[in-house]
Amino acid sequence: MSVANLITQNFRNLDSATLTFHPGLNFFVGDNGSGKSSLLEAIFFLGHGKSFRTSKLDSLARYNEQTFVVSVKDNNNCRLGLSRDVTLGTNSIKIDGERHTRLSVLAQNIAIQIVTPESFKLFFGGPKERRKFIDLGMFHVKQTFSKQWKDFNRVLKQRNASIRLAQHESNSMLSYWNEQFCCLSLKVSSMRAEYVSAIIKELDVWIAILLPDLKARVTVQYLQGWPQKKELLDVLSSNYERELNYGYSLYGAHKFDVKFLLDKQPLETQLSRGQQKLFLLALTFAQAKSIAKVNRVKPILLIDDVGAELDINSRQCLASALKLLNCQTIITAIETNVLQPFLGRDLSDETGLIKIDNLDNPDMVEENFKMFHVKHGKITEKYPDDSE
Ligand SMILES: Nc1ncnc2c1ncn2[C@@H]1O[C@H](COP(=O)(O)OP(=O)(O)O)[C@@H](O)[C@H]1O
Ligand SMILES: [Mg+2]
Repeated sequence: MSVANLITQNFRNLDSATLTFHPGLNFFVGDNGSGKSSLLEAIFFLGHGKSFRTSKLDSLARYNEQTFVVSVKDNNNCRLGLSRDVTLGTNSIKIDGERHTRLSVLAQNIAIQIVTPESFKLFFGGPKERRKFIDLGMFHVKQTFSKQWKDFNRVLKQRNASIRLAQHESNSMLSYWNEQFCCLSLKVSSMRAEYVSAIIKELDVWIAILLPDLKARVTVQYLQGWPQKKELLDVLSSNYERELNYGYSLYGAHKFDVKFLLDKQPLETQLSRGQQKLFLLALTFAQAKSIAKVNRVKPILLIDDVGAELDINSRQCLASALKLLNCQTIITAIETNVLQPFLGRDLSDETGLIKIDNLDNPDMVEENFKMFHVKHGKITEKYPDDSE
């Protein structure tokens, strides 16, 4: 799908408004603090029921407001809406007028992928960040994952409670939960392993475009959450005392991780900051492509502050990658001039829409993107004859 239009109400500093998007590229340009990241956050919130900036959803409401709403109409005229009542702490999901209660239905309808200046957390933010990244794709690609993951987490909770009980008294239920836990760990883990290998296959394509000068080969290791060659049940029994001491499950599918290596060294210790960003983009493109291949939902890509860390050559590579990915993309920037590689010509003397040739009809030209201006939360579309 692509977003045809977006409505936000009381979302951070954004003026309540309806924005009409281009099915291809959409650029939002504005000063620091104008509301660019808030716009991407609104779209991300709709896709995942979460923010990429905070775990406190209530801070997404405009100051002193009790509810906020994000809603999109897709290219098939289907409306998808998510609102939150801060006072009650509840979300309300509506798809084509019908109410839903589970946030996981959102992922069945919209697949939002994002790269922001905070995406470096994937290298430096511990395994939790990498788990979040991988599972963000899993929900879209593996149809049964959502249910298996929910079941797994239910059993994990029970097992943890059982471990805590065993700290005080003999607990025969623990071996029951161990079996359930191992069975679900294996199911979830093999699904993830399959998904990670699909991403790895894709990754080489995007690295070649985004990091053409990289000499050494990037490898990705999937760590399942317990020692690779051992049976989980054996691992649990040999770590019985340790788990009892900690009071929770130390091994299992919830402890998976992925490692990115360049020449057998951690990738982040080998690449410059700009190259790391290009790698993050390559990884996100690989994920987006894997989602697109499954053909359930077409991914939508968000890139926040595209000028950060990327020089003009890097942005040129990114522009080529975007052409190949061919998904709706929403990009923010502080200044219009950093967008030049995406637009194909120098914008220093123009501010509006570029025209590209229509190959079917060479006499026709059509715009392949839209440009918006963001100021104090107010978003306006820029037209070719706008001066600024
Ligand atoms: N809940 C909120 N209500 C109103 N304004 C907010 C809220 N949260 C943040 N802001 C303000 O919104 C502005 C826009 O922030 P942001 O979207 O991060 O800007 P940009 O990405 O364009 O630099 C900031 O000035 C910030 O102080
Ligand atoms: Mg920002």
